[in-house]
Amino acid sequence: MKKTLIWVCGTLLAAACGTAIYRFCFRKNIPEAEQTVQVASILKQNDCFVCHSFEPQKPFYASFPIIGKQMQSHMYHAVRFVELEEASADLANANEVLVAKIEHAMLAGSMPIPQYKMIHWGTGFNSAEKSVLTDWIVARRSEIRGDEAFAGSSIQPVPESYPYDAVKANLGKRMYNDTRISLDNTISCATCHVLSDGGADYADERTSEGINGNLGGVNAPTVYNAVFNVRQFWNGRAADLKEQAAGPPVNPIEMGDQTWDDIVARLRKDPALVAEFAEVFPDEGLTQSSVTEAIAEYEKTLITPGSRFDLYLKGNESALTAEEIAGYEAFKANSCAACHVGKAMGGQSFEYFGIYGNYFADRDAAIERNADDDGLKGFTGNERDLERFKVPGLRNVALTPPYFHDGSSTELEDAVKKMYKYELGKKADDKDVNSIVAFFNTLTGKHEELKR
Ligand code: HEC
Ligand code: HEC
Ligand code: HEC
Repeated sequence: MKKTLIWVCGTLLAAACGTAIYRFCFRKNIPEAEQTVQVASILKQNDCFVCHSFEPQKPFYASFPIIGKQMQSHMYHAVRFVELEEASADLANANEVLVAKIEHAMLAGSMPIPQYKMIHWGTGFNSAEKSVLTDWIVARRSEIRGDEAFAGSSIQPVPESYPYDAVKANLGKRMYNDTRISLDNTISCATCHVLSDGGADYADERTSEGINGNLGGVNAPTVYNAVFNVRQFWNGRAADLKEQAAGPPVNPIEMGDQTWDDIVARLRKDPALVAEFAEVFPDEGLTQSSVTEAIAEYEKTLITPGSRFDLYLKGNESALTAEEIAGYEAFKANSCAACHVGKAMGGQSFEYFGIYGNYFADRDAAIERNADDDGLKGFTGNERDLERFKVPGLRNVALTPPYFHDGSSTELEDAVKKMYKYELGKKADDKDVNSIVAFFNTLTGKHEELKR
């Protein structure tokens, strides 16, 4: 036993010295190349791809007892948190979330993890590398957003306006509130997405009640700021708002068992409406495509600028109290702001619910597992996408309980604690939870329909 221990320690020490000498001689020279190639090279030289790839490059000691097991566990969590592909082409297409994750690791100095640095001396970004990374982060973010303002921050304010076609949106607003779209004339989009109350469901139920009192399988997200989502639905099955709007009317649980032909035929019984559609959509008149396009156009108006937090981001430091600012700082320091990014503070990526632990095994047994719990896999069919969900935006979050795709938390405190436990693998400190919740209360923005 003692002999094995000496042998293991000796080998590790020799390896650490060897790699340190190698690094000292051969690395830390950033190639003269295009920015993304430089970034890829920096990540490679710091061994980032070793753990963060689905085909991890296991080091030789991965088969050792104890330390090997630990390494395997690190690799399992690492790739669930951040997937890094070695090809620089993937970095050239990096989305806002990947940029924010790399930025967080750089600012926190958290990567590689300390246990790894102990064996692999010399890993960790040096100042020349940080400077290249910082430039890339700012450039890539500006490129994605088409705007250089706030490029130093993973979160940006909700813009004052979003381009839309006013004539179509006007028609769309009426269709959004029109119950004739449902089979029995009782339900409109507004029934489940109540604009005066946060754009999500009023009801206390975890999931929405549709036609004939049917309960659906998931919690309704808000329609406010949905235009900023990369795709729509928890599992991303609709590419955009127009495609999304075609779904609920023909969903047997939501608006009834019917086809779009039935819906269009019913709406066409209204000559005034037919005439209006003919004017606004001269090529097609009243069709599934024009109805859903009008609704999508209206949804582009459902953005909520002007929150206290946005005033703060824009430079008004007295817009937030000291506790709320502490909450924002805790939100950034704990990498919450690396997934909840952009204008909507979410909606840009699909992440595992349960990077740590097993959320679904721990969940209240009264909630039965259903197909919606498969997350992104339900849309892509890819096993690797099991239990990955679209990160919800956090704008107006204080108005939209219950929380999560399964509506399992009714209180924000509880939702924040679950995020610590299952996304960060940490126990939340009460002080941080309270200040983060205080911060969340500053995210409520303004819209003429929003009465709270
Ligand atoms: C030994 C394996 C290992 C290596 C090498 C490694 N990571 Fe990680 N990484 C992890 C693990 C494990 C986690 C999960 C969080 C934790 O347990 O600390 C993680 C989490 C992260 C996170 C999210 C949390 C945070 O602190 O921001 C980022 C971003 C990240 N890694 C980026 C990187 C980058 C960039 C590199 C290269 C400098 C790197 N990692 C190298 C194992 C590794
Ligand atoms: C019976 C309640 C109900 C009705 C009626 C309803 N929705 Fe929804 N809506 C939901 C639920 C539940 C989800 C989440 C479904 C999922 O992700 O699988 C959702 C998701 C959405 C999303 C995606 C938001 C996001 O963040 O991914 C949008 C946008 C939306 N609905 C708009 C509409 C529009 C427009 C209508 C009318 C055509 C409508 N909804 C009718 C309950 C409803
Ligand atoms: C790795 C990415 C990731 C990180 C880090 C993360 N979240 Fe989340 N967050 C998610 C995902 C994914 C969901 C949705 C999970 C579901 O419903 O299945 C979510 C949901 C939430 C919700 C519920 C919102 C709603 O409308 O249902 C809140 C609140 C939240 N997160 C806050 C936080 C806080 C606070 C932190 C930091 C302590 C944090 N998140 C860190 C990915 C992340």
